[in-house]
Amino acid sequence: MERNIEEILALVSGVVADVQGQGKPADYIPALSEVDRSKFGMAISTVDGRDFVIGDAEKRFSIQSISKVFCLSMAIHYSGEALFERVGVEPSGTPFNSLSQLDYENGLPRNPFINSGALVTSDILLEHLGSPNQDFLDFVRGLSNNIDVHYDERVYRSEFDHGNRNAALCHYLKSFGNIKNDISRILDFYFYQCSLSMSCIDLARAFRFLAQDGAHPFREEEVVSRLQARRINSLMMTCGTYDEAGEFAFRVGLPCKSGVGGGIVAIMPGEMSICVWGPELGAKGNSIAGMRALEFFVQKTGHSVF
Ligand code: DON
Repeated sequence: MERNIEEILALVSGVVADVQGQGKPADYIPALSEVDRSKFGMAISTVDGRDFVIGDAEKRFSIQSISKVFCLSMAIHYSGEALFERVGVEPSGTPFNSLSQLDYENGLPRNPFINSGALVTSDILLEHLGSPNQDFLDFVRGLSNNIDVHYDERVYRSEFDHGNRNAALCHYLKSFGNIKNDISRILDFYFYQCSLSMSCIDLARAFRFLAQDGAHPFREEEVVSRLQARRINSLMMTCGTYDEAGEFAFRVGLPCKSGVGGGIVAIMPGEMSICVWGPELGAKGNSIAGMRALEFFVQKTGHSVF
């Protein structure tokens, strides 16, 4: 497999070059639009501890919604199945920041990977953490084995300045009783999570626990139980790429989570975690180069959960 991975990765840049220029970086948060759109990186971290990188795999980018998996993993660890009394497990088929379903579904977010779901999950986590932002950062640093992971102050501020929709979601959720803490605390915690900067290799390492039944990639401990890891992977498969999850399952066939910073993390259970990054996004907010690279990699390795 090792030679295969290297051989396949050597071909990825060519495949990605074919889709260059087809999308554009997120601009609804100005700090995100300043990224160099020609960047591309990919990193793989295998369950037996080997790493593979190509391109800009060591350059940091805004992890954005990829943080929702860290948030869910921490929350599920503390509150177990009870979490799913307040957040559903169905794909939404609507944009990540949509308010509409909440109205006729009585304030129960469809899943933890849309904004409403992540805001409720953050609310649950606030009950358990003494210093939420620092605890979250420590958790992510531990998973990636990198003390040099930080949040990006400019992105964090920009999220606040353009956060009316997230504030509206919080107020709406609170009107249904599905938010307990102060809205300002939840928004602060949520924006902080989104504003972490990490590289492909940081993220590939940090997500390895989902490829190895919940076992911490660098410590002799469990991040989540085996069943919880399975649940998180299944949610990534059905809900991890916004309203394009069906297309991802069709073309890539792996549990994936994307962010509007252009990163996508994918899990090959029992084998490896993969992170790709390309800032140009398609109409539904997913990295075009990232999706193409994953599709190519899966085709060539022949590995899929299907
Ligand atoms: O809530 C926002 O606007 C962003 N910070 C989240 C971005 C993202 O990647 C899409 N979210 N699900």
